[in-house]
Amino acid sequence: MTNSDFYGSELSSALAEPVSVSWQSPSNIAFVKYWGKTGRQLPVNPSLSMTLSKAYTESKLTALPRENKGEVELDFWFEGIQNAAFGERMTKFLQSVTDIFPWLGQVNLKLETHNTFPHSAGIASSASAFSALALCLCSLDTELNGIMLDETEFRNKASYVARLGSGSACRSVFPGIAVWGKTKALAGSSDLLAVPVSEIHPVFAALRDSILIVNKKEKAVSSSEGHNRMIGHPFAEARVKQAGKNTAELLEAIKNGDKKNFIRIVENEALTLHALMMTSDEGFMLMHPETVRIISRIQEARKETGLDICFTLDAGPNVHLLFFEDQIEQVNKLIVEDLLKNNEQNVRIDDFYGTGPLKIG
Ligand code: PMV
Repeated sequence: MTNSDFYGSELSSALAEPVSVSWQSPSNIAFVKYWGKTGRQLPVNPSLSMTLSKAYTESKLTALPRENKGEVELDFWFEGIQNAAFGERMTKFLQSVTDIFPWLGQVNLKLETHNTFPHSAGIASSASAFSALALCLCSLDTELNGIMLDETEFRNKASYVARLGSGSACRSVFPGIAVWGKTKALAGSSDLLAVPVSEIHPVFAALRDSILIVNKKEKAVSSSEGHNRMIGHPFAEARVKQAGKNTAELLEAIKNGDKKNFIRIVENEALTLHALMMTSDEGFMLMHPETVRIISRIQEARKETGLDICFTLDAGPNVHLLFFEDQIEQVNKLIVEDLLKNNEQNVRIDDFYGTGPLKIG
């Protein structure tokens, strides 16, 4: 697949009536982390994630008639309120994809969105927001231009477009487990879009992710800034190699139902991500003391109890506790009586392996 496969065309005649489409799209949690980019939002290493279920964005995109064509005009609503800051980011993104959707300057746009999870709760809201918007754009393309794609072509295009908004968003377009970034370990993998993983042992369809909230504040360093700090990073070359190896080994573990190797690789990735932040020029730290306390307890509790639990971290302080459905009772007890017992926030979000986005209008 090449970039030109995704370029579209202008509307042949002006729009007469408003046209709306709506999608619900989930967030995802990366097990192998994308960290560092190049070119037009291309990853420097492959990444692998699980699409979540309950944490999603619902977006309604409306195209309205417009007299003159020009720059993208967007009226943006978040949680029922007009939001200038988010609207600006969305407008910038839409302006950047007018080569794919040349009709964007021929209509007025209204985007209404809301999340099922609190903003900045340690869930990647950009992944759900941009995947929902990308799916809406592809659906509008069908409605306005009569572009008919089959299911696979449609998802591929949506993943390609979502990537341009936020890299990790391209993986949310697919259910279950997805890989983004070219790797020899997975046929058909690409830097341009994510691909779904088909060889998944049934034990992994029972994966759960309880997000233990350590801090809800906006992060001191954004992920865009974090990606930038990988340029010229002293460990950059070694990191790319490590991510390739971890992706290959994790795909094997997922295929074979190998929980032990899954746990080993996932924790190695989480700690590497944060180590890369700390060792960049102008190093920074997104873990809080409470993050360190909780992840240390998870490792100790695994040794003490033999439970198949592990943690991962996003670019933030909150801890994603990963475990399997059949141990939900024991893990629940561990969270309540131990991990979150002395935590000031005492907030958790329980999520699990998801079935992917849904068209709702
Ligand atoms: O998609 P971005 O630019 O917000 O970057 C996401 C980076 C991580 O969440 C840390 C890792 C990942 O692969 O999702």
